[in-house]
Amino acid sequence: MDKLLLGKIRLNLMEKLTGLRKIKTAVFISGSGSNLKNLIIFSKIKKSPISISLIVSNTYKAKGLKYANQYKIKKKLFNFNDIKNSEKKILSLLKREKISFICLAGFMKILSKNFIKKFDGNIINIHPSLLPKYRGLNTHQRAMSNKESFAGCTVHCVTEKLDSGNIIMQKKIKITSKDNLTSLAKKVLKEEHRLYPAAIIKFLS
Ligand code: GAR
Repeated sequence: MDKLLLGKIRLNLMEKLTGLRKIKTAVFISGSGSNLKNLIIFSKIKKSPISISLIVSNTYKAKGLKYANQYKIKKKLFNFNDIKNSEKKILSLLKREKISFICLAGFMKILSKNFIKKFDGNIINIHPSLLPKYRGLNTHQRAMSNKESFAGCTVHCVTEKLDSGNIIMQKKIKITSKDNLTSLAKKVLKEEHRLYPAAIIKFLS
């Protein structure tokens, strides 16, 4: 056989094998999806342990859904009006798609105890605060009102208690006198984009 063709076949085979070794991952979003985009780009590099094959959202308003079209990744919407029913459908979809890892990235619904149990230990989340401080919403506002010197972001395992699972990685960010809510949110988000891939590597290695 032609040497060039043989090389190409080998390369394809290697790519397929490398691809297969990556952990099939779903990313859950509700908003603008900057972390999702960042994780998709990360998933495509060789040292990344994940491949993203599904995007789940609870709302069609999530701007991040555009990345599903842009990167040709399957997306599914579940309205969560009936949480039990939505979660049941998501679980069977995850099974069908052979997904074994979930990254929450700005997903604003609380997953049930049952769902978390079924996916035991394989769901992680990014939160825009130095957990255990400021669980829940409006983290930057609360940190600034309390005149904190530092804000930050945390990647943690998801358990049934909100924003409370084991911390995988955390990054501290100085709040300066020049900061306002917008500048702080921007600074934290930028650090989230560094932190999430690093935390995934740490968690899966
Ligand atoms: C991020 O700041 C993320 O940490 C936060 O939502 C934002 C989503 O931004 N998540 C939470 O507050 C979860 N409790 P993105 O849609 O641009 O990735």
